[in-house]
Amino acid sequence: MNIIKRYFGKTTDGQEVYEYSLYNDSSSHISVLNYGGVITEIYIPDQEGRLENVVLGLENIEDYEKSDIYLGCIAGRTAGRISNASFKIDGNLYNLQANNNKANLHGGPDGFNKRILDVKEILENDYAALELSLLSPDGDQGYPGNLRVKATYKFDNKNNLELSYEAVTDKKTLITLTNHSYFNLSGNCKRDILDHVLKIDADKYIEVDIETVPTKISEVQGTPFDFRAGKVVGSNINSENQQLKNASGYDHPFVLNQKSSPQITLEDITSGRRLEITTDQPSVVLYTGNFIGHSYALRGDVKSTNHLGLCLETQWFPDAINQSFLPKYILSPGEVYTARTVYSFR
Ligand code: GAL
Repeated sequence: MNIIKRYFGKTTDGQEVYEYSLYNDSSSHISVLNYGGVITEIYIPDQEGRLENVVLGLENIEDYEKSDIYLGCIAGRTAGRISNASFKIDGNLYNLQANNNKANLHGGPDGFNKRILDVKEILENDYAALELSLLSPDGDQGYPGNLRVKATYKFDNKNNLELSYEAVTDKKTLITLTNHSYFNLSGNCKRDILDHVLKIDADKYIEVDIETVPTKISEVQGTPFDFRAGKVVGSNINSENQQLKNASGYDHPFVLNQKSSPQITLEDITSGRRLEITTDQPSVVLYTGNFIGHSYALRGDVKSTNHLGLCLETQWFPDAINQSFLPKYILSPGEVYTARTVYSFR
């Protein structure tokens, strides 16, 4: 195992950004920035042993600062949308910054994806890890409470990447963190993700309105949202389905059954790469990169297109605080928020 740190550049407000690459003994590696906890690349072998990158990333900090598609970052304080950018806890109304129609998306315009984090490197015999921490002050983007956050990224000799999060607060507040990596297992973005095979152990998913705000829980049975047996991602994506139209593709939370492990499997048959995801979170948002657009120069000299990557955002149910049909999660002083997801590359 090895960790290599390199200077990556300066943010427009003059803060230094570093990229940390965590190598295992077979040279697979992941690289992470102290900016937003962004995963910039994940190099994993295909069935011939060829090491290639399986996530979308950008080449420099200027591009990350300009980008608004949350490539590889920690989405927070709350992953997903908070409708009308407001919520109440104990009768107190909190107004957040709106940055997606009327909603607050992924914590607001200055979310955790844009923050410089403190980094501690950990090197053991069979894993390398980074502890990334940050203090989000009371009132940050409108959220109550001084929130101390720690994210631990651990990469091991078996190509398991474990992302775990912890947070404590001094006032009741909302929190749900996730990683927003866009996966593409073909390697160096050789093809888009529409022919990947995806399996999600979820009998139910959450419908959304045209602003991608949750509206109700529905059965996946008989719909394009049934990934229980494994299905080619693009097989029904253009079908006559109002939910797919509302979001221009998949951009929906699934209610994980929590019966099996892994709960999610993504496979690229041509390269032979498989990603297995196990999480302690109740939900995963499947986002098929419907709005990536053409304006990004991605790592590896690749021009971006829609559906070039897909996100599997394990998290608490988005907008639960405002939706009576969803269980709420509020973090209180004295408690510790924890969330853990393991991405195993096979
Ligand atoms: C996703 C979200 C999408 C889109 C994307 C960022 O998590 O659900 O609607 O906003 O982030 O471009």
